[in-house]
Amino acid sequence: MKAIVVRPPSTGAEITDIEIKPEKLDGLSIKILENGVCGTDREIVKGLMGEAACPPGDRYMVLGHEAIGILEEDGKYLKKGDIVMPVNRRGCGKCLNCLCGRPDFCETGEFIEAGISGMHGFMREKIIDYEEFLVPVPKEIRDIAILAQPLSDLEKSFDEIVSVQRRMIWTCKDGTYNCRKALVVGTGPIGILMGLLLRSNGLMVYMANKREPTEKESKIFQTAGIEYINTEDDFSGVLMSGLRFDLIFEASGGTADIAAKSLKILKNNGVLGIFGFSSTGHAELSSEDLQKLVYRSIAVVGLINGQKPHFQRAMLRLSEWNTIWPEIMKELITKTVNINDKVSVMKVLESKGPGEIKVKITW
Ligand code: NAP
Ligand code: BGC
Ligand code: ZN
Ligand code: ZN
Repeated sequence: MKAIVVRPPSTGAEITDIEIKPEKLDGLSIKILENGVCGTDREIVKGLMGEAACPPGDRYMVLGHEAIGILEEDGKYLKKGDIVMPVNRRGCGKCLNCLCGRPDFCETGEFIEAGISGMHGFMREKIIDYEEFLVPVPKEIRDIAILAQPLSDLEKSFDEIVSVQRRMIWTCKDGTYNCRKALVVGTGPIGILMGLLLRSNGLMVYMANKREPTEKESKIFQTAGIEYINTEDDFSGVLMSGLRFDLIFEASGGTADIAAKSLKILKNNGVLGIFGFSSTGHAELSSEDLQKLVYRSIAVVGLINGQKPHFQRAMLRLSEWNTIWPEIMKELITKTVNINDKVSVMKVLESKGPGEIKVKITW
């Protein structure tokens, strides 16, 4: 079958015919309809993703962890013709968290991830998968459902941030999060989805990038009631202004010093959530900085991977946003390329076009 293939740690990707040994003989056959392109896919193609690894015994890996497809046969609960999204991380089969459906907290680190590490991904004509890893896609959101995979990672992250903040009273006097201020650094698909998720959970949201927002970004931020900050000056303007945040969410995958510098604009008891895979530089923290972290009860937390409950919630969230922000939802898929257009497919895998948010590859 036709597939998009990478060979980590080598750079590059190719569209080629592969013969894949049936991975799950008793799984269900799913015809892939479309894939989403994530920042992580581009990092793998550029050789920047240290965790990328072929499945054991194979010298290549099918790329892709964002997919929707159509079931070609009946399952126990799902039916032939249903549109489904596969969950991308699978457990180690050994640790308690994996055995309880939460490989996002795998204790052995031996989990595998479709198209990222140790498991063939979803950028291919067909996959065979077990029903337990398939999430039904509501018909009403079919055109934007590809966003549910990245959104699942963020639903999980928000849950985790809230559970970290259960160490104190983080809800406001009215029981909501309306008095809490969040800063999201990075305005890629991840940053934008997180900004929307925080808004729909009631927080005041600011988004930051080292440039002026594009017209599309401005429209999205305005509609959702999000403020924009240009942080070309490495947060010194924010520092001077006195604006401080209860939560900073690193969604840029840019230089490592973003994490260290942004700590200075966190409120006491604040959380720095690191989600992006920082690709360059290093973060410097002096003994004085560390003392301040302790005195100010700052929490720094790594945030990764959503699981089936988060995928299900992401589907509902997209349905909700489709109702309250239909004009935003229309803007999020900025490009669709077909697998037969090899040149365009390679281009979208290699680099991000100006103003691009989510790119889809259709089959
Ligand atoms: P993306 O499309 O590359 O977006 C990155 C965004 O950050 C872009 O808007 C970029 O600006 C901006 N940026 C770069 N350097 C910056 C800086 N120094 N300050 C402020 N903004 C900066 O990537 P994505 O798909 O949104 O993903 C974001 C990151 O999350 C990636 O590292 C990805 O691998 C990671 N990720 C992690 C998980 C997880 O589970 N932890 C899941 C998915 C993705 P321009 O628009 O100007 O380029
Ligand atoms: C995926 C996550 C995955 C992470 C680490 C992201 O791009 O969306 O689900 O856990 O990469 O490999
Ligand atoms: Zn991803
Ligand atoms: Zn495990």
